[in-house]
Amino acid sequence: MVKGLFPIEELSARRTPFYYYDSALLRATLAEISSLLLRYPDWKVHYALKANFNPALLQIIAEYGLGADCATGGEIQAALDAGFAPDGIVYTGVGKRDEDIRLALNAGIGRFNVESVAELQVINEIATAMGKVAKVSFRVNPDMGAYSYANITTGLTENKFGIHHTMLEDAVKQALLMTNIELCGLHFHIGSQILDTADFIPLCNRINQCLELTDRLGVTLRDVNVGGGLGIEYDHPNHRPMADFASYFEVYKKHLHTKLPVHFELGRSVVAPCGTLISRVLYVKEGVHHKFVILDASMTELIRPALYSAYHRIENLTSEEAEEVYDVVGPISEHSDVFGKEVKLNRCRRGDLIAIRSAGAYGEAMASHFNCRPFPEAFISEQ
Ligand code: LLP
Repeated sequence: MVKGLFPIEELSARRTPFYYYDSALLRATLAEISSLLLRYPDWKVHYALKANFNPALLQIIAEYGLGADCATGGEIQAALDAGFAPDGIVYTGVGKRDEDIRLALNAGIGRFNVESVAELQVINEIATAMGKVAKVSFRVNPDMGAYSYANITTGLTENKFGIHHTMLEDAVKQALLMTNIELCGLHFHIGSQILDTADFIPLCNRINQCLELTDRLGVTLRDVNVGGGLGIEYDHPNHRPMADFASYFEVYKKHLHTKLPVHFELGRSVVAPCGTLISRVLYVKEGVHHKFVILDASMTELIRPALYSAYHRIENLTSEEAEEVYDVVGPISEHSDVFGKEVKLNRCRRGDLIAIRSAGAYGEAMASHFNCRPFPEAFISEQ
């Protein structure tokens, strides 16, 4: 049944490894987001390009009217090329380069999420020189953890991100004095792969406090951006192919006390489930204690297991034989080039097609050329 999800014959004909994207699942996910947003008419989801900037996927996402969350000038250009509206683009990052700031101002992007007063001063100088006004939100460091995934926490005092919430008042006062800065909003992001939506409640409380502060300072904001971070079920991609967007939106509806439009920046939850890294078994190697399946894919196509010990479900698409237990590894000479240990797979033989699931986010986008390996192709199903 699981194997029925994949067009095996088409996949078998291709050179491995490659990324397979299920466009029907991506469209269903985008349709789910759009239909939930009908309940919250002035809310907006920006797709975080860092999760996957494959141009064909970007075009599909842009069709559904999402905004774009960009981390560099390169991502801003990719969003513009794919057809995202410039005023729906937000630009976040602790180290924005001058030329990228200029590109963003020229394109007329909707918002700079500013992470320090030093950056604010530079944006003001560049905007002044260009005769433009930069629309700005302050990214606030709320000193809140995302408890689900310690590696991917971005909202703690020790993290480099954002203006610490205790320093917000001073930053707002400075922004109000700058001629070419329009302070429009506040922005937050506490981490990624958050499955327990209760993790967002302390964040809402902190946002409420920050909004009281901006009210007290007499600033009229246009919106509040609560970041991304919604997790997906890596363990059960077949049973739960879509993130729980409904609960995610509800928690903000319930716990944020504001009439301002709420904006989101979702990456993983939009694209992770629709992507699979398809690879072939090169060798089955008998070790003393383990049997190794050596794939032609490696950490250069999907670094998440090596970098974060992240779990991705692995399936043998071309075998119906009884299951055996394998360590599934890549060919690279790095001891972390392992996709999974003690994985149960239908008996593997050389040439079998192996699917590494939920690889649509932070897979292709984080690929590298290590070992002179070429970037693999992407194959997008036409459903
Ligand atoms: N907005 C900001 C400011 C972010 O830093 C991120 C992700 C997002 C939005 C999108 O978050 P998402 O919805 O995808 O959780 N490479 C790691 C993930 C790092 C995420 C960093 N920031 C991984 O492979 O799990």
